[in-house]
Amino acid sequence: MTPQDIALVRSSFAQLHRRKIETACLFYERLFTTTPSTRVLFKTDIQGQAAKLMETLTVALAMLNDPGGLNVLLARLGERHRNYGVRPEHYEAVRSALLWTLETSLGRDFTVQTRAAWTELYDQMAKTMLAAAPPSRQSA
Ligand code: HEM
Repeated sequence: MTPQDIALVRSSFAQLHRRKIETACLFYERLFTTTPSTRVLFKTDIQGQAAKLMETLTVALAMLNDPGGLNVLLARLGERHRNYGVRPEHYEAVRSALLWTLETSLGRDFTVQTRAAWTELYDQMAKTMLAAAPPSRQSA
């Protein structure tokens, strides 16, 4: 990611700051509508889950200047996700729901460049998570 990409994701995320939980809830609604098979994977309450998701995104954005540390965090997160039953194709569903949510929440401020920067960030995070925890043959 270029320094400009990093600045774009940080500033657009900061804009959502006061609407963090609301935005995360919108994301889950969208995900469960477009990909209902993901609903059963979530055992805890969605409000609590939403808070955790936004916290992790905050930490990830803060750590973009420390790729080594971020990779360790994402590798562990990826392993836990495999244990939650998350499959590689779910990462695409989550990416679409995330981009849709950002676009819906930010409106005009979600420019073509901001979308490209978020896509790049998400793809990098997902790649690191999946590399740390490839799906086992048994569950494939
Ligand atoms: C960049 C991508 C993602 C991030 C940053 C992320 C973040 C998180 C965080 C912070 C948690 C809290 C528990 C923990 O730390 O282990 C969590 C749990 C979870 N995530 Fe994700 N996640 C991502 C992708 C996905 C995808 C693709 C799915 C597939 C549907 C998914 C499904 C779940 C489930 C099922 C849980 C456990 C919920 C529960 O305990 O009820 N996540 N995620």
